[in-house]
Amino acid sequence: MSQLFTPFQLGSVELSNRVVVSPMCQYSADDGVAGDWHLQHLIQLGCSGAGLVMLEATAIERRGRITHGCLGLYSDACESALIRVMSAVRRFGGSTRFGIQLAHAGRKASAHRPWEKGGDPLGPGDDPWQTMAPSAISYDTGWPAPDALGERGMERILSSFHDAAHRAARIGFEVVEVHAAHGYLLHEFLSPLANHRQDRYGISLVNRMRFPLAVVQSVREALPEDIVLGVRITGTDWSEEGWLPDDAVAFVRQLQPLGVGYVCVSSGGIIPSVAAPVAPGYQIPLAAKVKRETGINTRAVGMIVTPEQAEDVIVSGHADMVCMARAFLDNPRWVWHATEQLDASVSYPPQYARAKRSIWPGAALIRPLSD
Ligand SMILES: Cc1cc2nc3c(=O)[nH]c(=O)nc-3n(C[C@H](O)[C@H](O)[C@H](O)COP(=O)(O)O)c2cc1C
Repeated sequence: MSQLFTPFQLGSVELSNRVVVSPMCQYSADDGVAGDWHLQHLIQLGCSGAGLVMLEATAIERRGRITHGCLGLYSDACESALIRVMSAVRRFGGSTRFGIQLAHAGRKASAHRPWEKGGDPLGPGDDPWQTMAPSAISYDTGWPAPDALGERGMERILSSFHDAAHRAARIGFEVVEVHAAHGYLLHEFLSPLANHRQDRYGISLVNRMRFPLAVVQSVREALPEDIVLGVRITGTDWSEEGWLPDDAVAFVRQLQPLGVGYVCVSSGGIIPSVAAPVAPGYQIPLAAKVKRETGINTRAVGMIVTPEQAEDVIVSGHADMVCMARAFLDNPRWVWHATEQLDASVSYPPQYARAKRSIWPGAALIRPLSD
């Protein structure tokens, strides 16, 4: 019997299975405001049969967006647009639950969309804005130097995270996730590769964790108890001078008493010169270590593609949930086909039921079951 397609109790939220659609920026918002692209994208994923769909990195302040197209939750207009989108999505979404990722891009903000100039920083004619980070060190050559945040800036960001969490709760998200990975602001505080501060937010691990932990606490305080709070963390910077797997374990031990219900273990992104050893399932051992050493509910992510691979993550006990991004861009029907492969079942819209393998002989021609 498939373990991937068993329900999972994530705090007070029951997921119908352990498949999670990973947060994915769509770069299609207008001043943070969701539009019709989000509507079609999320309705489609809501019909996918996944247990949980995570909305993309959503900026808690305007300056925290990566690009001019990033989704935001920093204004009434942002909130009303997401209310409109999510109420339509929920009408068709079946048992799929929805969460949102709250983020601040730090020194990687003020950039082009990836499909425009390869995601390079905005130039003088592109309406750029001043970025900010723990230290005034740019992400890469050719990137502008960020302002080093002072206490006032940090207070403002804390309260923006808090306010965005209130908005997320009002919209009705059941899961809220703080983005502390991929080289964005909170990861910049955590990693010695980006944080060169000499004050109580720098040097030691305890100091580097201080601001990210304060953010998580302020988000938790804004959320009713029945909303699950998660954190996307970095398992490693893939550099001996950077953030290491043992640091990730130490961070999770500090997150647990704050009421964090799960972590998603990703990696990389803090400096461009270090290449991650990308291969199928390459981040799973990082998730497994975090789970083994802390016992927290853990989500594995990164180059998990096939149903067998996803099933193995759960059966082996390496993680509690499997998170996939590009596999769902490629094939939003991933869950339907995986259940055929793993002899499990899933509920999806009856309007589409005639494509089921048990009813339609054509299915065997386009997706033969492997032995
Ligand atoms: C188009 C796209 C947008 C992404 N946006 C986000 C994001 O908003 N937040 C985040 O934490 N990760 C983001 N990621 C990373 C994915 O969530 C995921 O961690 C990564 O793609 C590895 O998983 P995969 O091999 O299943 O694609 C994005 C990835 C893609 C392909």
